[in-house]
Amino acid sequence: MRVIYTIAELRESLRGITGIALVPTMGNLHQGHLDLVQIARQQGQFVVVSIFVNPLQFGVNEDYSTYPRALEQDCKMLEQCGVDVVFAPNECELYPQPQQVAVELPPIANELCGASRPGHFRGAATVVLKLFNIVQPHIAVFGKKDYQQLYLMRLMTAQLNLPVEINGGDTVRASDGLALSSRNQYLNVAERTEATFLYQTLVGIRLAIIDGATDYLTLEQQAIDVLTARGWQVDYVAIRAQANLAEPIACECKLVILAAAWQGKTRLIDNLEVFKDR
Ligand code: PAF
Repeated sequence: MRVIYTIAELRESLRGITGIALVPTMGNLHQGHLDLVQIARQQGQFVVVSIFVNPLQFGVNEDYSTYPRALEQDCKMLEQCGVDVVFAPNECELYPQPQQVAVELPPIANELCGASRPGHFRGAATVVLKLFNIVQPHIAVFGKKDYQQLYLMRLMTAQLNLPVEINGGDTVRASDGLALSSRNQYLNVAERTEATFLYQTLVGIRLAIIDGATDYLTLEQQAIDVLTARGWQVDYVAIRAQANLAEPIACECKLVILAAAWQGKTRLIDNLEVFKDR
């Protein structure tokens, strides 16, 4: 496995290689990322993992400066997973000048996570487009945990005619259901114990929908009230259509329940798909 820091060296080393599968990450890897690498290995002939904490997708008061960086440990894990190349540019390499050109996304990028993180998806889409242009993968793999991000990457790829197939990897959970995340390490012991309740909330909503509940606004509000009463600060709980993340019409069968909420100083996100019988 090679670890490459510059665009020039990466381009040189990828010359003539076909069937590249890219897993874009911000590092501090966990089993969720390694599962994405596994998908990349199954579906591509040559696996590139990018590790770059992208300043463009962090708001001014967010955790860009403190976001956990663990390149050495990440590389050890990736080597064991059979990755061919790790691309780990620094900020000057990807943004030698202030980035003035960006991907413009549709209004859905300003809802859900985009409502509390203005500009987040614009920044994420812009760096992903840059990575696609640099690496020129045939396949790119993103986690379903970032459901809205995955949706927007698919949309960008389709509408900008990028020759990349986007694949989604299932969320990996701890034994109590908490979705693995690089940010879970911010949680103290009490917060970590409580954190599973976000997942349990989504499970409860899914059961209610499967049992026939159709008043989605009430389900969302009840969940927000319960989480708030337990000390969470809720950004949103939303039941949306899988296809476009819009508010579902009555006969919509493929739904997704999405939530973001703060446990102390840690913002957690999660989602669960629901497939309703007609
Ligand atoms: O999901 C992430 O880790 C990031 O948003 C991504 C896709 C690597 C872009 O910076």
